[in-house]
Amino acid sequence: VPGWRWHLAVAASAGFAELDASWPLLRDALARRGFRAVVEAWDDESMGWASFDVVMPLYCWGYATRVAEFLSWAEATGGAARLVNPAAVIAWNADKRYLVELAADGVPVVPTTWVGPGEQWTPPAGEFVVKPAVASGAAGAARYAPSAGEAADRHVRRLHAAGATAMVQPYQSRLDTAGETAVVFVDGQPTHAVRKGPLLDAGAGEVDRLWEREAISATTARAEQIEVATRALASAGRRAGAGATYARVDLLDGETGPVVLEVELIEPTLHLLHAPEAAGRLAAALARVVTGA
Ligand SMILES: Nc1ncnc2c1ncn2[C@@H]1O[C@H](COP(=O)(O)OP(=O)(O)O)[C@@H](O)[C@H]1O
Ligand SMILES: [Mg+2]
Repeated sequence: VPGWRWHLAVAASAGFAELDASWPLLRDALARRGFRAVVEAWDDESMGWASFDVVMPLYCWGYATRVAEFLSWAEATGGAARLVNPAAVIAWNADKRYLVELAADGVPVVPTTWVGPGEQWTPPAGEFVVKPAVASGAAGAARYAPSAGEAADRHVRRLHAAGATAMVQPYQSRLDTAGETAVVFVDGQPTHAVRKGPLLDAGAGEVDRLWEREAISATTARAEQIEVATRALASAGRRAGAGATYARVDLLDGETGPVVLEVELIEPTLHLLHAPEAAGRLAAALARVVTGA
């Protein structure tokens, strides 16, 4: 088709039948900026990533089950093509231990105890959550009653046996009423927010599916939420040594204000159907990346 200026590949997990429902919207927004955009499996070894102007790993859901392989793919692809977000950002963001760095930069985060293989731990007071440091889509997370210490300890040991670091957090009960607020950013600017309902049922054990299934609705983030999310993203950029063209910061209501649950810079669902204009802003940002503007 004449008029294509650039070729863009959205890298995805193989068998991407559950493609983000907003893909046609994003593809059309990209087309209006001159990008011919296709979806390709990130682990397809026949792919010549260098032939694309931009490779965007936005649909690589489930990479966490093959994180070492995925990070070497990102490193290699970032060396051969323009990877957005950059490989350094992806490597920094793949392990939630980045929360320690955010906290060191003064960003409020969900209080977390990190339990590495072989380390002892004691549960916090009240209900609590155990989850792996490397994960997405709530995989491997579970919520425990104060009396369920033994089951939780078995969970921690299973994570350790798999070589993972466990995260233990007090269950943030305001989530049940206020929900989780996800603030989406393009080029460091907040574009829109959605509210996500709670995901972990008491006593349900570990989440074993790969994709989140929470109730989503459009919302308007409060000023203090935008402020905390913006600081989290700025800290992430400094710590990773590169900026993020697209980002999502997930917040919960803590005891004294918003706290960061996670910063998603690899394959965030951007909830573009809730804010179609954000797709246009992402396409424009990608055009700026390619032109160096
Ligand atoms: N400390 C917590 N308190 C309450 N709910 C939590 C907590 N940690 C995780 N959850 C629930 O589990 C989900 C997945 O956890 P999250 O830290 O976002 O990991 P992932 O990267 O897998 O999305 C969250 O969206 C939330 O519903
Ligand atoms: Mg999450």
